[in-house]
Amino acid sequence: MLELHQVEVAYNKTATAVRGVSMHAEQGKITTLLGTNGAGKTTTLTAISGFIGMENADVVGGEIVYKGRRLNRLAPHRVSRLGIALVPERDKVFDTLTVTDNIKLTAGSAGKARAVYEEFPRLGELAGRTAGYLSGGEKQLLALAMALVTEPEVLLVDELSLGLAPRVTSDLLGELQRVQRERGLTVLLVEQNAAAALAVADYGYVMEDGRLVHDGTPEALLSHGDIMEFYLGTGNGDDQRRSYRDVKQYRRKRRWAG
Ligand SMILES: Nc1ncnc2c1ncn2[C@@H]1O[C@H](COP(=O)(O)OP(=O)(O)OP(=O)(O)O)[C@@H](O)[C@H]1O
Ligand SMILES: [Mg+2]
Repeated sequence: MLELHQVEVAYNKTATAVRGVSMHAEQGKITTLLGTNGAGKTTTLTAISGFIGMENADVVGGEIVYKGRRLNRLAPHRVSRLGIALVPERDKVFDTLTVTDNIKLTAGSAGKARAVYEEFPRLGELAGRTAGYLSGGEKQLLALAMALVTEPEVLLVDELSLGLAPRVTSDLLGELQRVQRERGLTVLLVEQNAAAALAVADYGYVMEDGRLVHDGTPEALLSHGDIMEFYLGTGNGDDQRRSYRDVKQYRRKRRWAG
């Protein structure tokens, strides 16, 4: 469906941040792209969504293909018209606008904005609030709604967990999974919080220093202690950053793995 073939991305024509990345996001599934700080996850999503052109960066090799169509160097609005929406890493919402006005910005019509409140009743309760005063989790939910209201086929999500407590992250990813199933969406989910992402994903890729180093089902990745520790930093020292349930699940899987 959405495929990357040997994609290379360079900043300022020299610094290669993504090196020979080949992956695909299967239709109607959640695929997660994991990795620690600076691995190249955001760069990969901005390359797909076309926003890379605004970063003094470029796709210098390989191909990004959606439904047989080449996306390399397409402008963001043209990618979006093909049904691919991005929930960006930073500046996800307009702080000075109300929740409703944020949604109207991407919705195009008041009717669509109302439909989103049926999908996310919690957001409906916050409709008149100024976005800048929302909690971190509420802001991420609003950002998700702003992308969903454009009725995309493919949703690219960059770190919904940014700055959130593990419990809030798990709840949010649960909401994402619910909507993904209801709508039959294709999701490419970028996350540093590997345990939380793998709890909702159908398939995962692990990125390190611009390259993909592993991929597999959540079960396979979770049961591989070395991957979790070396590439995702979910070894003992970091356990308190993961949600209790996720860590418990991870430990259980590791025990099975022997
Ligand atoms: N605008 C930029 N100009 C130059 N280099 C950049 C720019 N943005 C990112 N990079 C570099 O590209 C590499 C990959 O960064 P990227 O933001 O894609 O990583 P990431 O996996 O999203 O990390 P994080 O989990 O911290 O968000 C890093 O070495 C980073 O320093
Ligand atoms: Mg990032």
